[in-house]
Amino acid sequence: MTRPVRRLVHAYLRRLGPEREQRARRRLRRLRTPAYVGTVRRTAPVSRGFGADRGSPVDRYYIERFLAERRAAITGRVLEVKDAGYTRRFGSGVTRADVLDVDRSNEQATIVGDLQALDEVADDVFDCFVLTQTLLFVYDLEAAVGHAHRILKPGGTLLATVPVVSRVMTTPGKLDDYWRFTQASCERLFGGRFGDLEVVSYGNVLASTAFLRGLAAEELRRRDLDVVDPDYATLLGVAARK
Ligand SMILES: C[S@@+](CC[C@H](N)C(=O)[O-])C[C@H]1O[C@@H](n2cnc3c(N)ncnc32)[C@H](O)[C@@H]1O
Repeated sequence: MTRPVRRLVHAYLRRLGPEREQRARRRLRRLRTPAYVGTVRRTAPVSRGFGADRGSPVDRYYIERFLAERRAAITGRVLEVKDAGYTRRFGSGVTRADVLDVDRSNEQATIVGDLQALDEVADDVFDCFVLTQTLLFVYDLEAAVGHAHRILKPGGTLLATVPVVSRVMTTPGKLDDYWRFTQASCERLFGGRFGDLEVVSYGNVLASTAFLRGLAAEELRRRDLDVVDPDYATLLGVAARK
């Protein structure tokens, strides 16, 4: 695209409004760098941002499916990490939505604290804890899962998701990316505390490699995304009842 044409396209996109502009920009990126051209031999990903600049990240497709299928548990007093987006989207009968973050600059946090040492939160407080894509950043997993269990009411539900496969995501001085998970590690980690435990695999070799390469979910067929091959899973969902 020549510079004047690019300028015209950008001016046009800006007039669409934020939501339509983002959708149009993502579609344009997919058209300009199609994933199927030489994807397998590329040593660099097509996107370094989980494909979010091209559409919806592949792991979000699975996270949202996991939560949608367990939406009945997202009720009463609910705790979520970073923001209450999934509580609002999937919850019903929510009496109070709290947000936990270790990051003091997060203005949405109603509880600023470290899940590994969350002594400021009393026992048996929450009906549901939505803990998506966070445990990879927590070094002491035993302590974190111990607190997640402790702050849930008896009968309360932990809905956690963890990556099996993902690019490494470290923000120096802020977040360190420590772990990837397997069915076996989740069964030991959560099974030690929670009696009632379900660990669900999502994804397959196509979804996992596409996610690593930075393709968006929109670039895969839904029927391919929905194939489950636990040996090559992309993501695990953990539903655990106290
Ligand atoms: C990638 S976000 C994941 C949460 C988000 N709801 C999602 O689904 O993407 C990771 C969040 O976990 C927070 N975090 C990392 N370590 C933590 C810890 N030990 N205790 C509490 N929050 C932590 C980070 O500050 C960040 O806001």
